[in-house]
Order: sequence, then structure tokens, then C-alpha cells
Amino acid sequence: MSEPRKLFVKSFGCQMNVYDAQRMTDQLAREGYVETDTADDADLVILNTCHIREKAAEKVYSELGRLRKQQEELGRRTMVAVAGCVAQAEGAEIVKRAHGVDLVVGPQSYHRLPELIAEAQSRGTHKRARIVETEFPVEDKFDFLAPPTRAAIAKRGPTAFVTVQEGCDKFCTFCVVPYTRGAEVSRPVAKILDEVKRLADGGVREVTLIGQNVNAYHGDDGHGSPAGLAELVRRVAEVPGIARIRYTTSHPRDMDDDLIAAHREMPALMPYLHLPVQSGSNRILAAMNRKHDRELYFEVVEKVRTARPDIAFSSDFIVGFPGESDEDFADTMDLVERVGFAGAFSFKYSPRPGTPAAGSGSQLPEDVKNERLYALQALLERQKAAFDAACRGRRFDILLEKPGRLPGQLIGRSPYLQSVVVLAPTAAIGTLAEVDIREVSTRSLAGTIIGGEAFGSDRPPQGGLRLEAGMVPVEKVEA
Ligand code: SAH
Ligand code: SF4
Ligand code: F3S
Repeated sequence: MSEPRKLFVKSFGCQMNVYDAQRMTDQLAREGYVETDTADDADLVILNTCHIREKAAEKVYSELGRLRKQQEELGRRTMVAVAGCVAQAEGAEIVKRAHGVDLVVGPQSYHRLPELIAEAQSRGTHKRARIVETEFPVEDKFDFLAPPTRAAIAKRGPTAFVTVQEGCDKFCTFCVVPYTRGAEVSRPVAKILDEVKRLADGGVREVTLIGQNVNAYHGDDGHGSPAGLAELVRRVAEVPGIARIRYTTSHPRDMDDDLIAAHREMPALMPYLHLPVQSGSNRILAAMNRKHDRELYFEVVEKVRTARPDIAFSSDFIVGFPGESDEDFADTMDLVERVGFAGAFSFKYSPRPGTPAAGSGSQLPEDVKNERLYALQALLERQKAAFDAACRGRRFDILLEKPGRLPGQLIGRSPYLQSVVVLAPTAAIGTLAEVDIREVSTRSLAGTIIGGEAFGSDRPPQGGLRLEAGMVPVEKVEA
């Protein structure tokens, strides 16, 4: 038999790209490609790109430059494909701007990769012969993408992403996603359950249901009606082996009462919710076309906290949106103070081609954006540190995921996605351990195992920490 061909996929951007990378790898495994973790010895390199901010989008060109140099040095020519959201947004521009790209493929055509690659191979390396595939095909790629093998599932560990919804119809004025991922589409419940069952059979214990607007999920329930995310979560929780469920990314306007009730009822639904708000100013929220005001955000946070007192929130923020005044920014700081976040991502506004806000005449200077980002991040970091510090002395269920840095150590995740270091045998990977948190540092927690699935206790897995047990709600912590 001939040597297997080697595939190297490098992903940028969000969780959906991580998931897509796995599906591309699974699809190409059927063609005899095996994964390698460097471009050096790869026969095919796929750059799985992100277009969300200018800096992210530019990375593909520096990466392509680096690849080309490396290939010249090594004296070999590797096939290079550009996938992901830059591929969708820029298409043929990429081929014009960068040398050495054989194939550009948008996210909705990944099921066609084998034929596209074969075609690119047959055309050779002539510049004009390059292939650009950025149509939104009529068929559903999920019907054609190969499922992962058991070995691939095991190699990826006990947590997995599953795309349940893709695309976005919200059209926030700063955002490229509705253009790069297309209109909102939900996968049918039955197909998602098949995928989750397969993952669970392979040892997966925690699934994160992902979508650009995941709580707008409305997939076919098999009886001709749409099922909401709450219903989907309940069905996923019934899959044997699945102990934990998360979902991301949610839009505040789509946090309906059924989903909030699911947080109350279901211990498997982890008490950590990523709920991007972007700004605390009603004027800016309106200019962003977020379709809600700060009051609605407070209301949703309150309702979810009432349903699930141990919930913690994370969010995304944009500073320096066109026309953002000092008062607007003060409103964002005020919202952060009032809500209290356990984690957050914050960004300087980046004008994106083709989006309405990019054409606004009131762009802010870079130094104003820098100042605001600095102030916001300092506040968010203080809140995160306070949240983490309040975890010392608490007892969590930790899903043990992988070996730690030192011998004898394992690293797991708390309900709040914190990394937790414990001493435990490798055989305990993939199990839930009950852990007393003893130490808190900036990057991780450390604790002692006192029971759990691999440690002689059959207590059913619990969610997060209970506020009644003395936990200080993060908004009351002195930062
Ligand atoms: N679907 C999610 C987020 C998708 S993009 C939502 O609705 O919130 C992830 C984050 O990138 C966004 O939440 C936003 O904070 C940030 N982002 C998107 N476009 C941006 C831009 N043009 N400039 C800066 N940050 C941006
Ligand atoms: Fe982008 Fe807004 Fe859609 Fe989120 S909801 S993906 S920020 S357009
Ligand atoms: Fe980036 Fe596309 Fe995700 S633009 S954030 S990779 S949906």
C-alpha cells in the first residue's frame, strides 16, 4: 500500500471553525488522509480562516507567506486550501493576492472537498487553474459529511462540539457573519441526536451545542414542527453517557422562558452562560441593530439567575463603535458593574467591508479605542479574579480531560470552564470527579479529589456551586 497522505488543518476564529476542522478531517480520512500536527510534512494544508475582525482576516495572508517561504526552503510544493470565513468573504481575491493557493472553499461546501482537491490536483499548479468554491449549494453539507471514526472521537477527548445551527439573520451593523455563514439554518433534532449518540459511544461526556445564534435554534422535531433549543437540550440530556451540556453563542433576545426553565430543571445543563451584550448604551445598541436595550439584558440575567442561582455569565464587548461617546462607554462600564461577569471577551471595533457600520462617518480614533479597551478589560479581569477567588473552598464536579504538565496530574474543567489541576490516575480521564478547590491562580484552579465516578462514589453528577452554601454572588464581591 502507498504511504498515507498527510493533512494539516490550522484553524482560526470561533468554535464552529474547530468543529468544521474536525468534519473536514473526518471527510478526508475517507480519502486516506491522516492528520499531522505540522505543515512541514503535510501533503495538504488547510487554513481554516476567520473574517470577524481585520486582524483575524489578515492572519491568513501572513500564514500563506510563511507557508510559501517554508516550502521554498524545503524544496517541496504542498497543496494549500483556504477554507472558512475569509474564503467565503474574499473568494477569488485570495488567489489574486497570495501565491501558492490551490483551492478556496467556503464553509457550506466542505462536503465537496474530496472532489475539489482531486480537481485541483488534476489541474496542476498553474495560477489560472485555481479553484474557488464559494456558492451556497442547495444540498445540506451535513447530509454528506463523513462522521468521525471511534478512534478519532477517542483522540479528541471527552468533550465535543456539535453544530446545531449555522448562519445568522440578525444583521448587527458591525458583523460579517450573516454574509460569511449565510442565513440561519437549524439541523433536524434526529440528526443531532444521532451525532451525539455516536460521540457518546466513543466516550464523549460533555457536548457543547454550537451555533452563531444557537438559542434561535428551531430544528425539525421529526413530527413536522420546529423544536426550540430547550427541547433539544432535554433530548440530548437523555443520551446515555452524556453528563454535561453547554450551548453557545446565545443572543439575549432569544433567551425564551422555556430555555430559562431548562436551566432550572436540568442539572446537566452547566451553569455558565455566554451571553454577548456588546455595549451597555441603548444608543449604541440601537446603532448596532442588536434589537434589544440594556433593560432587556438586565431582565434576562435576572430571570436566569432566579431559575439557576449558581449561574455565572460571560459576554462579548465591542468598544469604540462609530459614534460611541464617553457617556456611552460609561454605560458599558456600568452594565458590567451591575451584572458581574465571570469571564469575557472584549474587542476594539474593527470596520469590516460590506457592513453598514464600516461606512459611518463617525469612526473613532485608535487611541480612544485603546483607552476604553484598557479600562474595560481591567474591570472585567477584576471581576474574573474575584469570581475565581470565591471558588476556593468550594466543591465542584470536574470532568477530567487530559494529562497535566507534571506526572500524576490531570486537568479537568469546572462547571464554569475553569481549568482545574488534580492528582489522579490517567485511567480517570473521561470521568467526573468531586473536587475540593484548594488553590486559585490566574490561569487555573487546583484541588483534591474526594469522590466521583472513578473514585468509589456513585452520587449523580451535579451542576455548579450552590449559592446557599455560602458562595458570594459575583456582583457583591469587592473588586
Ligand atoms: N453570534 C455572536 C457573536 C459572533 S462574533 C453574537 O451574536 O454575539 C464574536 C464576537 O466578535 C462578537 O460577539 C463581537 O463582540 C465581536 N465582533 C464581531 N464583529 C466585530 C467587529 N466588526 N469589530 C470588533 N469586534 C467584533
Ligand atoms: Fe453577528 Fe449579530 Fe449575528 Fe452575532 S447576532 S453573528 S454579532 S450579526
Ligand atoms: Fe470568525 Fe467565521 Fe467564526 S468570521 S468568528 S470563523 S463564524
